[in-house]
Amino acid sequence: MLVEFENVSKIYEHGIIALDSINLVIDKGEFVFIHGPSGAGKTTLLKLIYMDEFPTSGEVRVGEYSSGKMSRKDIAMLRRKVGVVFQDFRLISDLTALENVAIALRAAGKKPEEIRKRANIVLHSVGLSTKRHQLPPKLSGGEQQRTAIARAIALRPALLLADEPTGNLDPDTALGIFDLLIDINRSGTTVVVATHDLRHAERLRKRMIRLEEGKLVTDGGMIGVSP
Ligand SMILES: Nc1ncnc2c1ncn2[C@@H]1O[C@H](COP(=O)(O)OP(=O)(O)O)[C@@H](O)[C@H]1O
Ligand SMILES: [Mg+2]
Repeated sequence: MLVEFENVSKIYEHGIIALDSINLVIDKGEFVFIHGPSGAGKTTLLKLIYMDEFPTSGEVRVGEYSSGKMSRKDIAMLRRKVGVVFQDFRLISDLTALENVAIALRAAGKKPEEIRKRANIVLHSVGLSTKRHQLPPKLSGGEQQRTAIARAIALRPALLLADEPTGNLDPDTALGIFDLLIDINRSGTTVVVATHDLRHAERLRKRMIRLEEGKLVTDGGMIGVSP
């Protein structure tokens, strides 16, 4: 799914400028890091893509959808095509890993047999087959994030967004999560990752978009990597 920002600004209450005249195109199949210091506007940029927030001015286009004309139904349809992963995993703690994945499929109206099959397949694909009947509190941080990623890709989204997905993880575990996101991208999904975890991000040599105080300051360079 093509993502386009055309002159997008987002001003929150009390005049806080979270994003300032952003122009940006993310092509189908790309892997992109959004980085920059805390408060730079990374989370806001992702929220505008899954239309949890709308621009104050300018237009965000995601596939066939435009921020200027989104009905409730359009938003629901968009959310089925865009998977989202958060720093704090956001799993339901009294449901097993498998059930956490299954509810995403159930919410989309899939049949029980398909839900069972697909939930098992995606958990296998993130390396969690043997842990599928565990409750999240019994899983490590990395395993919880893998479960959240499995849930996010269960409906085969065209686009996967991850907001600081490694923010609560130690460096080795973080590396495994980045590798998993790269694998998902290789299978055809567009992946956009907001992170300030540049140690690993740089090594992966992907497109990097840097935000500072709501402005897009660099795009494409691999900051900090010596030539
Ligand atoms: N819901 C909100 N209401 C008011 N201000 C907000 C809201 N969300 C974010 N902000 C402000 O917008 C700016 C950008 O925030 P954010 O997008 O969360 O940045 P980042 O993810 O890069 O840390 C910050 O100044 C933040 O305080
Ligand atoms: Mg953030």
